[in-house]
Amino acid sequence: MRFAGSHVLSVEQFSREDIEQIFKVADSMEPYALRKRVTRVLEGAILGNMFFEPSTRTRVSFGCAFNLLGGEVRETTGFKSSAIAKGESLYDTARVLSGYSDVICMRHPEAGSVAEFASASRVPVVNGGDGANEHPSQALLDLYTIQKEVKAKGGSMDRLRIAMIGDLKHGRTVHSLSRLLALYECLDVVLVSPGELAMPESYVENLRSAGHRVTVSSELNQSISQVDIVYSTRIQEERFSSKEEADLYRGRFRLNQAIYTKYCQPNTVIMHPLPRDSRSDANELDNDLNQNPNLAIFRQADNGVLVRMALFAMILDVVDQVDSHSRDVNWYHRRANE
Ligand code: NCD
Repeated sequence: MRFAGSHVLSVEQFSREDIEQIFKVADSMEPYALRKRVTRVLEGAILGNMFFEPSTRTRVSFGCAFNLLGGEVRETTGFKSSAIAKGESLYDTARVLSGYSDVICMRHPEAGSVAEFASASRVPVVNGGDGANEHPSQALLDLYTIQKEVKAKGGSMDRLRIAMIGDLKHGRTVHSLSRLLALYECLDVVLVSPGELAMPESYVENLRSAGHRVTVSSELNQSISQVDIVYSTRIQEERFSSKEEADLYRGRFRLNQAIYTKYCQPNTVIMHPLPRDSRSDANELDNDLNQNPNLAIFRQADNGVLVRMALFAMILDVVDQVDSHSRDVNWYHRRANE
């Protein structure tokens, strides 16, 4: 695809070649993300970061990524502090805010809303999550992480074995990730959820029709015994009609060190888009996994900055200028392995 000036609304936009291009640019962002060098390539540019649903990682890492490229960030969080609370349409909001920004990132509770906003925007829009539909930048950073972790263990993306666990019905991260995974070859995908929260058929069919082996299960222990990656997710409480309904499913699939030792292979990588729900009735990834070197959840979150920097640099067409606008940092910086 042509990245310059394009919206990023769905992973369906990307081919395997596009993904490889994004990952190559993401790799090149490492000195800046690790604060070894600074670049001012986006000096004067403004990111409109509009988050109408709770967010920590996605919102802050989009903001940091833009700042690390030298740009400024203007943020709107929650409906109450926006004119949408006064009845303004997405169309009007998009027309106005795209006059104030060079690129906009948006999260919204309704599926399709970010695409609707983008159709009225005068600048590129990146989907930061639209309801239970898609979360393309998360899927890219998940795939980037999978590739890095698997390569470090001598494996490859083709023939990857992955278990996706939890609320697969409402989880937009697993929806987008499954579509990206489908682009690779001969995968073994195990989908673990309560029957009521199964992965929607269109995503399962998309994997199967691309030739991958898909197993559907509602049992954790055996499902994680033959995989390279365990990708755990939270019950998406905000998509249920009541907290009580979500409570019915919370805590069904809990992974802790004892279960990991007993059932997983010694090298199995543990991932989660975060936030993990650490309340005692949920606890899908126990804190006792924190010292497990295969727990990749914080490396995964760190990778979000690299991938989002790559997306901005490509959308705003400055990839070739990043280094020529750079210098060493003046301040103490953390070491790569810290
Ligand atoms: C996810 C989301 O918002 O879809 N979080 C994130 O962006 N890293 C997953 C979740 O909230 O469970």
